[in-house]
Order: sequence, then structure tokens, then C-alpha cells
Amino acid sequence: MLCGLRVLVTGGAGYVGSHVALRLLEAGAEVVVLDDLSTGHPWAVLGAPLVVADVGDRKRLRALLQSGRFDALVHLAARIWVGESVRDPDGYYLANAARAFLLFGEAARAGVRCVVHSSTAAVYGEPADGPLDEEAPLLPINPYGASKMMAERALADIARAHGQRYAILRYFNVAGADPEARIGEATPNNTHLIKVALEAALGLRPELAIHGTDYPTPDGTCIRDYIHVEDLAAAHVLALRALAEGERRLVLNCGYGRGFSVREVVDMVERVTGRRLPVVEGPRRAGDPAVLVAACQRIRDRLGWRPRFDDLAVIVATAWRWEQRLQARFGRRRRTR
Ligand code: UD1
Repeated sequence: MLCGLRVLVTGGAGYVGSHVALRLLEAGAEVVVLDDLSTGHPWAVLGAPLVVADVGDRKRLRALLQSGRFDALVHLAARIWVGESVRDPDGYYLANAARAFLLFGEAARAGVRCVVHSSTAAVYGEPADGPLDEEAPLLPINPYGASKMMAERALADIARAHGQRYAILRYFNVAGADPEARIGEATPNNTHLIKVALEAALGLRPELAIHGTDYPTPDGTCIRDYIHVEDLAAAHVLALRALAEGERRLVLNCGYGRGFSVREVVDMVERVTGRRLPVVEGPRRAGDPAVLVAACQRIRDRLGWRPRFDDLAVIVATAWRWEQRLQARFGRRRRTR
């Protein structure tokens, strides 16, 4: 599908990036991973060379781009925690916006023709009503979303100036793991709901706090559109193929178009693991919108994308299998690295 295409994947040692790199390799691409290992792991890079460097290190980046003669860039390296971004906004603007400006500019000047950029539903902010389509206004309500919005805008301008083709993929809530449990989410001090719930099921956390029970939703907890990381990785492969075949610009939501509340997710985790979770009800978390659900027709129409894991039970089951393997492999050490 992508035979011989030379692709640089930033953040390819991370959770989503490692799945994307693997799928690109399986599709026939020649992949090089660039990752500073700030949150990623060398063992997560399966079958591709890993260059350990910071995306913001212009000198090393330039040398890599020149020697690599890449056809495409897939940019996933980023900081992704909403709560942390509220506490450390300048850190997020530097990591997600400033570094992306630098990377996109250098890649364009090095002759990289296609760029796939990982963005987020957080660029939309607090949506009015109903599922969000790609034409919805971008009104982020936290620095994480704002920094990603800036990167989107910079890519559009840089790509136009240099005649590049690009795809922006706006992820909704990514979860699940490789069905063979070779790779999965292993970021330390993770705050994602399903990850936290599974760690609580394993006894690695004393409790699972529900962040807010007074939202204007049927059960009072936030609703999110959870997408399996394998379906998301497949979307990257299809987006890159479309660009390689001549598509100039794609902006696509990556979600299933169906939301689950925090309580529904907690129930599913209890069902899949067969364990009762130590749930406590807490206050709202800063920066959290009540409902975020994708309108996802465009990605189906434009890429022919058909999800294979559109089932919360499967998402939780693959994540659970991975979590148990991670526990068996690293035990408690993994909480502190
Ligand atoms: C956020 C972004 C999303 C991005 C992702 C990457 C927003 C609105 N969403 O997802 O676009 O791709 O980060 O990291 O900015 N929760 C609890 N208890 C917990 C953990 C979470 O109740 O211990 C709740 C949260 O309040 C939220 C839901 O579960 O309502 C999902 O949270 P989380 O898994 O952290 O993802 P988002 O913050 O929605």
C-alpha cells in the first residue's frame, strides 16, 4: 500500500506513535522513528530504527532530514495532558506549537512532500450541541487544545507556501492496545480514564476518582468518544496513502460518533476485569468539556476508513490484556520509571 515510501514518525516510541509506526511498516513504508523518550519507550519501537533526539533540536533535525530523504512526515510527538497544560501553559506552547513550527518548516525545506499531523478534539473547545464536524469553530478551552490549534494553522500555511500535501487528524479519546498486546499505553503518571481505571483494577492505585458528577449529561458525568488505537493507526496509513496518491488537504475527525459517560466506562471496566473498582466521586477537573463526540462521516467518505474495533468492550479488553502484561513485565517499577 505504501511500498518504499520513506516516512519519518516523530513520537513513534509513544503510545499512539508506536501503533502508527507498526502499521506503516506493515503497509510497506520505510519508517524511521524520532523520539526524545521523554514519555516513550525504546521497546515500543518494533522493527524501525529509532533516533533519540528532540524535535526542537534544529541541528540534529536538519541532519536527519537531509540524510533521510523522507517522502513523508507523520508528526505525533507532543505533550497531551489537559490538566497539566492548564498548570504549565508555556511548556505546552513550546512543545506543541513552537516545536511543530520548527519541524514543519525544516521538513518543507528538506523537500518532504506529505505531512500527517496528529491533532485533537480539544481544538474544538466546548461544543454547542450534537456531534462535532470538522467545520465547527475552533475555540479551545485549554492550553493543550490551543497549542494544537496553532500547530494546525502553521502546517496549513507552511504547506501552502511549499506546495506540500497534508492531513490533520483530530483524535477523540484514544484507548485500547495492540490486539497481540505487544505494545500499548505505558506513559508514567497517566491520567486517562481507561488507563487509570485498569491500574486501579490491578491495585496500582488506591482509588479511581470520577472528576465531576454535576455535568449536564444524563448521569452527570462527562461523555467522550473512545476510539481504538488500532483504528486510529489505520487512519494514518490511509491518510498517507491518499496524500501519496495526490490528495492535497485533509482535515478529519477520528472517532466513532458515539459517546460513553465516565460511569459507563467504569461499569465496562468492572465487567471486563471482573473486579470492583475503588470509585470515589470528586470535583470537576479544570479544562474538561461536558460532551465531546465526533461527527465522523468525512473520514469514511474521504479515506474509505472502516473501523474494526468499534466496541467499548473490545477497547477495554485489549487495554486490560496489555495492562496485565505490562504489570507482569515491569511490576511496580513502571509507576516511577
Ligand atoms: C483529552 C483531550 C483529547 C485528547 C486527550 C489526549 C479534551 C477535552 N480532550 O482527553 O482531545 O486526545 O486528552 O490526552 O481536551 N476522568 C475521570 N477520572 C480520571 C480520569 C478521567 O473522571 O481519573 C474523566 C475526565 O474528567 C473526562 C473523561 O474521564 O471527563 C476522559 O478523560 P481523559 O481520559 O483524561 O481524556 P480527555 O481529557 O477527555
